[in-house]
Amino acid sequence: MTKLLFICLGNICRSPMAETIFRQLVQQRGLEDSFEIDSAGLHNYHEGEMADNRMRRHASMHGYHITHRSRPIELADFSHFDYIIGMDRQNIRALESMQPVGSSAQILDMASFLRKHQADSVPDPYYGGDQGFEYVITLLEDACAALLDHLSNS
Ligand code: 4NP
Repeated sequence: MTKLLFICLGNICRSPMAETIFRQLVQQRGLEDSFEIDSAGLHNYHEGEMADNRMRRHASMHGYHITHRSRPIELADFSHFDYIIGMDRQNIRALESMQPVGSSAQILDMASFLRKHQADSVPDPYYGGDQGFEYVITLLEDACAALLDHLSNS
């Protein structure tokens, strides 16, 4: 069982979208028993909330249904999960600074898995328009497929 935790700032846009896309890919490949998939945020401003309405609307336009409710990351996540995957450099830096010494989780940068698209982060869409949410889905579909290939081959 490989355990993955997707991380962004609020856990209402990018990381619940990543979790949903990755889970759908895992189901399509019949690998449900091999993966545990979750997401969390670096802050707790939206704890307990469903994903942002705009993210859910764009998700449904692409055939995805986001059911996750926002939760903040906790220290126990660093011992439970094998991979903790951040959406941008700010996420990665925050994860590295809170990672307990000796924890086994590997911190990964989502943008490093992009293969069809070139970007150095999955940018925060919160303060932007429709285009930003579409771009998040485009990047995450690319990176999730590559990440699943990477984990399936390793
Ligand atoms: P996310 O987007 O990190 O992709 O969930 C954001 C959601 C909320 C805020 C920032 C980014 N916020 O400042 O409340």
